[in-house]
Amino acid sequence: MSPERDLAAEQAAFWNGPGGQGWLAAYARIERSIAEFGRMVLAAAAAQPGERVLDVGCGTGGTTAELARAVGPLGRVVGVDISEPLVAAARSKQLANASFALDDAATHLFEAASYDLVFSRFGVMFFADPVAAFRNLRQALKPTGRLVFVCWRTPPENPWGLVPFRAAAPHLPPMPRPGPEDPGQYAFGDRARVERILKEAGFGPPAFEAIDQPIWMGKDAAEIVDNLGRFGPLARGFAEATPDQAEKAREAITAALRPHESAAGVVLPGACWLVRAAAR
Ligand SMILES: C[S@@+](CC[C@H](N)C(=O)[O-])C[C@H]1O[C@@H](n2cnc3c(N)ncnc32)[C@H](O)[C@@H]1O
Repeated sequence: MSPERDLAAEQAAFWNGPGGQGWLAAYARIERSIAEFGRMVLAAAAAQPGERVLDVGCGTGGTTAELARAVGPLGRVVGVDISEPLVAAARSKQLANASFALDDAATHLFEAASYDLVFSRFGVMFFADPVAAFRNLRQALKPTGRLVFVCWRTPPENPWGLVPFRAAAPHLPPMPRPGPEDPGQYAFGDRARVERILKEAGFGPPAFEAIDQPIWMGKDAAEIVDNLGRFGPLARGFAEATPDQAEKAREAITAALRPHESAAGVVLPGACWLVRAAAR
C-alpha cells in the first residue's frame, strides 16, 4: 500500500468512526461555531439559479441545503462525503434538487466538465494526495467554472484550537507532529502550499481572503470539554490516553477555558482563508 493510500484509509476510518460520530453528536454546537464562516463562503460562492454545484466534504449537508435553495428547482447540487453516518444524515434532509455520493472526492468519477461551482466549507484539507484530488475536482468543472472554499489558517492564528491543545498536550501520550504535507484540520494553513497545490492541479491563480472571526465554542468550559478531543490535533492523544491521562487533560482544558467564559459563552479568535480560483 502506498503512503497516500495509507493516509486516505486513515482519514476514511476516522470520518466513518470517531470523527463522524463526534461530528454528529456535537453538530448543533459546531454548526453555531462555524455558521459565520459558512455564511461568508456561501456569499462568496454566490450560487445562481440553474447552476450545477458540487459540495465537497459536505458532512450532514447543511451547506448543501443552502446551495440547493440558491440554485433553485432548475439547478442541482451534489454533496460528496466519505463518511457513511454523515451522508445518511444529509440524505435524511430529502432535498428535492440535491443528491449525495458516499465516496472519496479525490477519486470519485464525477461527470466531466459539468459543474459551475465546486464548493467546500472545511471539507478539502483531508486529502492524502491533494494535487490529484483537486485535479479530479477541476475536471468536473466546466471551463468557465469556479472553485470556492474555506479552510483554517495556522494553529497560532486559531486560539480556539490552540488554547485547549496547549493545555491538554502535557497530560496526553506524545502526539506525532503532522508532517507539512499530511492531511488534517490545519493542512491548508500555509497559503503558499495551497497556491502550489491549486497551480499543480491546473486551476487559475487563486485569490485568498483572510477572515478573522470570533468563534463561539460553547456555553461554558464544562460543555466544551465534553466534546473536545474528538477532532483535530488532540484526537489521537485522547484516543491513546489512559482514563487518568484523559481526565487530567480535561481538567487542564477546563482551567484554560474558564478565563474565556462570559455571559455570551466561551469565545476565542478563529482565522480562515476564503479561497477562490477559476477552473482555467
Ligand atoms: C470538518 S468536516 C466539514 C463538514 C461540512 N462541510 C460542514 O461544514 O458541516 C470535514 C468533512 O470532510 C469529509 N471528508 C474528509 N475526507 C474526505 C474525502 N477524501 N472525500 C470526501 N469527503 C471527505 C469528512 O467526512 C467530513 O464530513
